Amino acid sequence: MSVCKCVFPVLAVVAAIVETYPTSTRTPTSTRSPSISSTTWFPPATINAATTTTAPSTITTIAPPQKDCAVPFKDIGGRCLFINPFTKGNWMEMRYFCHELLSELAVINEGNVFTELLNFTRFEGIDQHDYWIGANDTETEGDWRWVNHKKVVLGSPYWALYGNFDVYVLEPQGGYTENCLYLDSSRFLYFDDGDCSQEKAVICEYRNSIE
Ligand SMILES: *[C@@H]1O[C@H](CO)[C@@H](O)[C@H](O)[C@H]1NC(C)=O
Ligand SMILES: *[C@@H]1O[C@H](CO)[C@@H](O)[C@H](O)[C@H]1NC(C)=O
Repeated sequence: MSVCKCVFPVLAVVAAIVETYPTSTRTPTSTRSPSISSTTWFPPATINAATTTTAPSTITTIAPPQKDCAVPFKDIGGRCLFINPFTKGNWMEMRYFCHELLSELAVINEGNVFTELLNFTRFEGIDQHDYWIGANDTETEGDWRWVNHKKVVLGSPYWALYGNFDVYVLEPQGGYTENCLYLDSSRFLYFDDGDCSQEKAVICEYRNSIE
């Protein structure tokens, strides 16, 4: 019974302290958000440790983006891209992931964009993942279309070599079983057709194809 008599005064003191704690010394939320920079958005030092040793030391040396891309997108070859090796899912799930970031699966339809993208993934040590990008041939077998419905250019320099000894062909070679486009880490991230239900990482492009 006597406990109750003690508790209320204690609570009253706590309440009084909270009441008199000056709100101006609390960090206003508006000054917090600018400190969330693209380099702190993910903690690469811990997440990347299992797969790479280069990313943690190089991540802070990224040059500031030339193009004004919303975090977490980066200017790569003049596009606002988010190369995300941390989340994996099938093609449709990863498309949904991009949509949630107001973006689309990336449309890599220019050589310079592809070059800069490959350089970026190697530079950051995140080139050991397969990445879904925004094309498939599910509507008509062999007719590869970007998510903006434009035709995907076949052949060099985009598509991976396939074969051995002296017989080489270019992807896509999966026919009716492999209908979604990804960057193949086993072949230097060149284009390859994959089973749409496989789990892969993703590259999103900010608002590229949402019209
Ligand atoms: C490769 O990427 C790094 C980091 O973004 C950049 O400093 C370097 O200039 C790029 N190299 C080429 C050849 O684009
Ligand atoms: C292929 O891409 C189109 C958009 O271009 C999409 O509507 C369709 O659902 C995709 N197919 C699969 C199997 O995800």
